[in-house]
Amino acid sequence: MKRYYLWSIGCQMNETDSWRVAENLKRLGYAATRRPEEADVIVLNTCVVRQSAEDKVYGRLSSLRPIKQKRPGTILALMGCAVEEDISSLQQRFPYVDLFVRPSDTESLIDFIASRDGTAGHPHPASGILHPVPCSLPPVSCYVPVVHGCDHLCTYCIVRLRRGRQRSRSPAEIVDEVRCLVERGAREVTLLGQNVDAYGRDLPGQPTLADLLETVHEIDGLWRIRFLTSHPADMTDAIIEAVAYLPKVCEHIEIPVQSGDDEILKRMLRRYTVARYRELVARIRERIPNVALATDVIVGFPGETEKQFMNTYDLLHEMRFDVVHVAAYSPRPGTAASRLPDDVPPQEKERRRKAVEELQTQIAGEINARLLGQTVEVLVEERHKGKWQGRTRTNKLVFFEDEGDWRGKLAQVRITWTGPWSMQGVPGRAPLSQVLPSLPDSDKIK
Ligand code: SAM
Ligand code: F3S
Repeated sequence: MKRYYLWSIGCQMNETDSWRVAENLKRLGYAATRRPEEADVIVLNTCVVRQSAEDKVYGRLSSLRPIKQKRPGTILALMGCAVEEDISSLQQRFPYVDLFVRPSDTESLIDFIASRDGTAGHPHPASGILHPVPCSLPPVSCYVPVVHGCDHLCTYCIVRLRRGRQRSRSPAEIVDEVRCLVERGAREVTLLGQNVDAYGRDLPGQPTLADLLETVHEIDGLWRIRFLTSHPADMTDAIIEAVAYLPKVCEHIEIPVQSGDDEILKRMLRRYTVARYRELVARIRERIPNVALATDVIVGFPGETEKQFMNTYDLLHEMRFDVVHVAAYSPRPGTAASRLPDDVPPQEKERRRKAVEELQTQIAGEINARLLGQTVEVLVEERHKGKWQGRTRTNKLVFFEDEGDWRGKLAQVRITWTGPWSMQGVPGRAPLSQVLPSLPDSDKIK
């Protein structure tokens, strides 16, 4: 039996790319292994958004060198945001790597492997999803990339340099993919893009994310739709309206602010002011009163003073987001910000990061505590350490214990305990109509 070893870090886009790689490799007859030393194919799907991620990638890659020396026939591929357009310096640094693959380019990776191991001509869809191996059912909640790349120029960001200009997938292709996932048991999809609210601007006729939400909403058997991540400058009233009136679209919006200071926002080239961001959040909350909002923040951007940091801190205090992803600024090669002096000392960046984390722990704890004693609708995704795990429409993680088979079902759960990151509860009974479909006969393993 041929084996593959897949190591993946990074964003949801990478997570879904890795899933596609795995599905395609299974279709080529490979089985997964956790031991790289026994693999015929090794794929590292990488992230370099911050130096810490990049260090992990190169640490991992270096640790594979002896394996490749011992078994030169093993195919070693480096994929994802570590791979820039010009791969010559990577080739020099890592001559033992067989293939460098740009982010999301599953097709080139699979073509290379198929031609090297003699399975060339094996039918495989580029997306790896239209005919997935039936033994691996999709998750109940799936990611579906709808826009690749990004047309913004945020000065700190390497992702746009590695993933290229915005390229939206056509609504027809997205609908086909979602239908296929739903036929196989998926019940929720999250439409993905670095900048998902700009969806469609590069397509003929310029369909918008609001149009796409309406189209995907029509798919029978699909219960929930989410989308992320949204850029504040691209969010439109039509999208907010779609979240408000389309029942399947969850009340959950991820809208990174990055900083609460106008001068820093300008230097980040974020294309909005704090006042405009505040006004946007007010509009969202007015139209969707029970909405859960998540944001991203970078602390310690070049030149960020204590006062400017406090503007961010105060904004977070005022806005009371459900979730805040906070990162210490990390200079990235080739970005405009990397030419500015990285003058906030590491300990100070860490102090600011921790301060935001502590504030958010308190806020999230208070927001979640309001659900104590209430009954919430949970889409159950999987069993983890003896407990069922799922999410509310507002993306809150809920655990409960029960002997029944809840995978892929909607549970009404009475909340008995809450914390900042998750909650626990007791389920009601599962309606019979929620039984998952079995695989179509054509998909059964022959
Ligand atoms: N599209 C999103 C937006 O509108 O901001 C963000 C996508 S970005 C790839 C993901 C997150 O990584 C950003 O929101 C930012 O907080 C963080 N990030 C990106 N570059 C960074 C850097 N150089 N240092 C620290 N954090 C960074
Ligand atoms: Fe990066 Fe800004 Fe786009 S953070 S991915 S350039 S919206």
